[in-house]
Amino acid sequence: MSKLIGIISGSLRKNSFSGSIAEYVKSHAPEGFEFKIIDISGLPLYDQDYDGADPKEYTLFRNEIKALDGVLFITPEHNRSIPAALKNALDVGSRPYGQNVWNGKPGAIISQSPGGIGGFGANHHLRQILAFLNVLTLAQPEAYIGSYHTLIDESGALNNAGTKEFIDSFLGAFTSWVEKIS
Ligand code: FNR
Repeated sequence: MSKLIGIISGSLRKNSFSGSIAEYVKSHAPEGFEFKIIDISGLPLYDQDYDGADPKEYTLFRNEIKALDGVLFITPEHNRSIPAALKNALDVGSRPYGQNVWNGKPGAIISQSPGGIGGFGANHHLRQILAFLNVLTLAQPEAYIGSYHTLIDESGALNNAGTKEFIDSFLGAFTSWVEKIS
């Protein structure tokens, strides 16, 4: 049976660059792996008062994460950090206290930006959060994809041979990491 990896995009934007990478990943999964996009756009803002009487969106989301063999985060950078929607999803999955659904999952991060440094700030803020949540995050290779707007075609699909090759090898390293620690 294939291992199931969730892709969580940090962007809610239609025609998102992160979504474009997610689509590429989904259709280039290494053998033995299936990648599934997890939608975080409908999660109400986390409020600790919900603990014990959770919105149904929280329960569905937490169950979706629990069923995964690993998680790949693909994110833009917002003001040198991760987008609020992604932080909200991480917070929702981390609670109620003692029921952190991220605990022990293998993970990996791809950050992207139209800018030159490829979302470095978001990538490392995310690493800090994932360390606390006990996500076992792939250290190397790192994936900072800069100038993403120059790497796509008119439909928004990834259209650059070198970047495709890099993502393929990144996925190879990530799926080996998942196998190793499963
Ligand atoms: C940005 N952007 C941005 N880019 C960057 O390289 N560093 C940054 O700190 C920021 N800050 C930032 C804040 C906010 C509120 C927005 C909306 C945008 C640009 C951002 O990286 C760019 O919009 C994304 O790469 C687009 O990704 P998606 O949403 O298409 O996946």
